[in-house]
Amino acid sequence: MQTTSGFANLAEEVIARCRKLASFSEDAGGTRRTFLSAPMRDCHREVSSWMKAFGMTVWVDAAGNLRGYYPGTSAGAPRILMGSHLDTVPNAGAFDGILGVVLAVGLVEYAGAFDGILGVVLAVGLVESLEGRKLPFGIEVVGLSEEEGVRFGVPFIGSRALVGRVNEELLGRKDRHGVSVRKAIEDFGLNPNEISKSALSDDILGYIEFHIEQGPVLENLGRPLGVVEAIVGQNRLEFIFSGQANHAGTTPMKLRHDALAAAAEWILAVEKLAQRALGIVATVGFVEAKPGATNVIAGEARATLDIRHASDRARTEALDELIRQAESIGAQRGVTEKWRTLLAQHAVAMDPFLTEQIEQAMQKTGCEPHRMASGAGHDAMILAEKIPAAMIFLRTPGGISHDPAESVHLDDVAKALECGRHLLTQLAASREFLGRTCRA
Ligand code: HGY
Ligand code: MN
Ligand code: MN
Repeated sequence: MQTTSGFANLAEEVIARCRKLASFSEDAGGTRRTFLSAPMRDCHREVSSWMKAFGMTVWVDAAGNLRGYYPGTSAGAPRILMGSHLDTVPNAGAFDGILGVVLAVGLVEYAGAFDGILGVVLAVGLVESLEGRKLPFGIEVVGLSEEEGVRFGVPFIGSRALVGRVNEELLGRKDRHGVSVRKAIEDFGLNPNEISKSALSDDILGYIEFHIEQGPVLENLGRPLGVVEAIVGQNRLEFIFSGQANHAGTTPMKLRHDALAAAAEWILAVEKLAQRALGIVATVGFVEAKPGATNVIAGEARATLDIRHASDRARTEALDELIRQAESIGAQRGVTEKWRTLLAQHAVAMDPFLTEQIEQAMQKTGCEPHRMASGAGHDAMILAEKIPAAMIFLRTPGGISHDPAESVHLDDVAKALECGRHLLTQLAASREFLGRTCRA
């Protein structure tokens, strides 16, 4: 059987491809690639060229998801869905989301090696492990268009389209330039009226997502890979504090209704609550003061809140408390505040059968599986609404993510490929898996 070292070449290729995609950015000095931005087109072009080279049929759906299909043994064969997202946060690393797409394409490349001449160059030593067998299911790889929620404040637009949850309200949401999701889709040359056609076909047996852990757990345990058992729930909100803009020089401190000072006091209250409440993480990652001048007291302050916990109840209780605190801080300062929900996503368990299969595949690579919850959100939590979903984590050096320092170890990528190969082989031989009725 092929071992991790046999995947070293492919792993190197996978990492190089991720780094190549990181160069497709809206910003000169870093990686930012938001929903259907111009660099997303470059990204599609590049990934499509790999997919086509490995014998896949490629298309872009009306939600801007890049999709590639590699057939199974027979035309009517069901399929497995693999992938992750192609959009990034500002000043991002090269692997968040992208590695999951590129690694899935790498597995198709490897699976197709005995079919495609190109693959042979990389996979010469790999073919024998599949003994030339075609898989009894096709592999669809999806590069989802929007997972982070940067451009419109709402994440998961791509995966919501796959599960039929893109409605007029979402299509009407606007970015900072007043461009709506609908217009962004049209500007990219797609037809938003066809968004329902993006929905998953009803022959999908399950979804597998490889993703970097984005935290320190696996590194602290010295484990290359982890098995995701559940993804914590998260709420994202925007708070607007409204006070009275006034002159910085002439307005006595006692007579001020400083919206920014109110927001600042509340931000510390957010941190304090999260430090006290076990398992809660809460982040204010964006603040904006208006009019935003040195000698003007802020009349308005906008702040976003991202709050997460594995228990939906604990999270909503903490959130209610923070809303109460915003109101009372505002009341003490003569500042009003309002808030709106950008995302209310409950915690989601991964599919037990697929999770177990992943554990078995991981053990075959010599890696002791570690079951864990994901503090980060993932498209798998949306797709799990319609199809069995499961995730494999790769160790994140230093636990750093959403930053250019984000990285992966070559051996861990090779290990993940090997794990993926074992998983595909297991599922191909699993009556239980093949006998599943599709829920989509
Ligand atoms: O925010 C998240 O959890 C992920 O990075 N999208
Ligand atoms: Mn992310
Ligand atoms: Mn991600």
